[in-house]
Amino acid sequence: MDWGMKNRYSRIIKPDDGRCVMLAVDHGYFLGPTEKLEVPQRTIKPLLPFADSLMLTRGVLRTSVNPSTNVPIVLRVSGATSIVGEDLSKETITTSIEDAIKLNASCLALSIFVGSKYEHQTLANLASLVDHGEKYGIPVLAVTAVGKEMVRDSRYLGLACRIAGELGAHLVKTYYCENFEKVVEGCPVPVIIAGGKKLEKDIDVLELTFNAITEGAAGVDMGRNIWQSEYPVAMIKAVRSIVHENFSVKEAYDFFVKEKKNEHKNTTIAR
Ligand code: R5P
Repeated sequence: MDWGMKNRYSRIIKPDDGRCVMLAVDHGYFLGPTEKLEVPQRTIKPLLPFADSLMLTRGVLRTSVNPSTNVPIVLRVSGATSIVGEDLSKETITTSIEDAIKLNASCLALSIFVGSKYEHQTLANLASLVDHGEKYGIPVLAVTAVGKEMVRDSRYLGLACRIAGELGAHLVKTYYCENFEKVVEGCPVPVIIAGGKKLEKDIDVLELTFNAITEGAAGVDMGRNIWQSEYPVAMIKAVRSIVHENFSVKEAYDFFVKEKKNEHKNTTIAR
């Protein structure tokens, strides 16, 4: 890795512990105004101080984040499909490398759809993005998006993560699954997890985070389970406590309960 690449990478994965809390708010790029992310600025602002990095599209970055922020940007640069369209896997690169540089992106993110109809296209997108990233010193995060018909098990996710690593991704995002260690073991670069759909109980989010970290994840790239929580600030703080401070599930949950009271108080005062 050259200096610029190393520098940007270390803004995403903290060199002190090799971990990261990435806040994902890119969902609108194919889902539209997702619940609790209808007005991105409103969702992002209170959470930003607790995020190591922010993952989003250029449209939301330009309109909803103050350019004076110090939080590193993970710019989603793939898309051009929608939840109501023909096939979600038919993604293309949507942002030029020049624009990503202008936006001071610390990392570029795109989805790959292994096993889907447009597998080849999305993997070729990844290879080409890595070439651009290498040229300008910007790391690439490959998001292993899962097509409707694919099973989220260690065999499939391990395959997708390994292919992403082989094509040169510097970081891979996937889902937690049974035998998650195998997914991590088979991937030549660090693996982080998405939270997925909102889980029923708050403690489930902490358990998911704890299990993933314990089984080798380098952190989280989490969205809905943070900002769809009734107490998003308390939740991101509790997730952080597991990722960066090695809290147990119980310690993190107790911390969440304490923080939740503060958040409730602050929200009530603000009203
Ligand atoms: C999905 O492709 C998006 O990149 C999301 O950023 C990702 O799924 C993480 O968000 P969540 O934790 O809500 O699943």
